[in-house]
Amino acid sequence: MIKTSAIILAAGKGTRMKSEVPKVLHDVCGCPMIQHVVDAAKAVSSSVCVVLGQGHLLVKEKLSSDVSTVMQKKLLGTADAIKATKSFLKKHKGNVLILCGDAPLLEVSSIRKLLSAHKKAKAACTFLTAELDDPKGYGRVIRSSGSNVIAICEEKDASFEEKHICEINTGVYCFRVQDLFDGLDKITINKKKKEYYLTDIISVFVRQKKIVRAVKLSDSTEGLGINTRADLAEANRILNKKILDKLMAQGVTIVDPTTTYVGANVKVGQDTVVYPFTFIENDVVIGSKCTLGPFCHIRPKSYIKNGAQIGNFTEVSRSIVGEQSLMKHFGFLGDTVVGKKVNIGAGVVTANYDGTKKSKTVIGDQAFVGSDSILVAPVRIGKKSVTAAGCVVPKNRNVPNGKTIIGVPGRIKSKGKING
Ligand code: UD1
Ligand code: CA
Repeated sequence: MIKTSAIILAAGKGTRMKSEVPKVLHDVCGCPMIQHVVDAAKAVSSSVCVVLGQGHLLVKEKLSSDVSTVMQKKLLGTADAIKATKSFLKKHKGNVLILCGDAPLLEVSSIRKLLSAHKKAKAACTFLTAELDDPKGYGRVIRSSGSNVIAICEEKDASFEEKHICEINTGVYCFRVQDLFDGLDKITINKKKKEYYLTDIISVFVRQKKIVRAVKLSDSTEGLGINTRADLAEANRILNKKILDKLMAQGVTIVDPTTTYVGANVKVGQDTVVYPFTFIENDVVIGSKCTLGPFCHIRPKSYIKNGAQIGNFTEVSRSIVGEQSLMKHFGFLGDTVVGKKVNIGAGVVTANYDGTKKSKTVIGDQAFVGSDSILVAPVRIGKKSVTAAGCVVPKNRNVPNGKTIIGVPGRIKSKGKING
């Protein structure tokens, strides 16, 4: 089988974002948009190459080591960006998939449809299109009266009639490598934008009587290209909805999907109920039969085990909360491991940061952490032990199993006495 390589275009300035951060590093559902595209590319390709330019060092830092990169020295347009990949594709005879680093919503299943249509038609180029109510800003797909694709026309060059075409180019293409490089040489500079447009290759191929095919996305939102902050918000909204729909299909109750935000790689068990205004970041696992929120923030590297309840105005960061433990009212857990059936009262705070370093707190099974307790890390609260309401447990003042600590600073109670 001939393998497909993938190229991801990510050198552009991203001027319309008005940002010092390279466009492709802006997050969509907690993950830089380039990462979404790289993940999709990896699912269908033997090798992936990202074209870098603007902010290249920052972008490269975020890419895993199995992703190749090439530099586009001057940003002379999408056709010029592909020319920069010549060395990467040198020994390549099969097909090449081209994706845009600013289109993070594309699904692997749609790429597969594109690849199989391309192979079936033995085309020189097959590209993905979408039908949009508002096609403004995108390249329009020009078809002949017989509905064959004859060109892609960019917005800036489109006539009044062409601007009314609602079928757009998503910027996702599959090319036979040899045809691609032959065609690139025939693309001339666009006089208005002083750029070489990859999209011009379509009319070049049509003139050469090469086979060109277009595959229309069934879900046009997958083609969203992010050029502005408004596009970014739209992408977050669309992907968040997909993530929540998937969780609901798996048996999770999301009380209000319009105010619940969940990262792309979060796992949630069956019969967990998520109340409104809850924000679950990436790299979080929530067990089954948990309740979260309302107004709850679960941050990366957290694991909420089965049956735990994390209530309103709570933040949990880099922490594990054991089975059936309760933290039902406002409070903060950071770098903490909480055992099973622990009760964490209202207003409990783990003071995990001393201004220079972060330290851990461990709370044993069935401990009772009284309201308003402050646990200064590093510290251990033993199994079945109690911290009295308002107690400040100083760092390293570990509470043995079954003991009570009381006061400010906290002292351990022993048979009616308080030991310092
Ligand atoms: C491009 C397409 C347009 C399509 C749209 C889909 C062209 C000429 N136009 O327009 O038909 O509807 O995408 O979203 O291709 N890039 C480089 N080097 C460059 C210029 C751009 O790597 O010199 C990269 C960008 O980082 C980006 C991608 O190519 O990831 C597309 O560039 P962008 O400027 O966003 O093109 P659009 O105007 O959106
Ligand atoms: Ca774009």
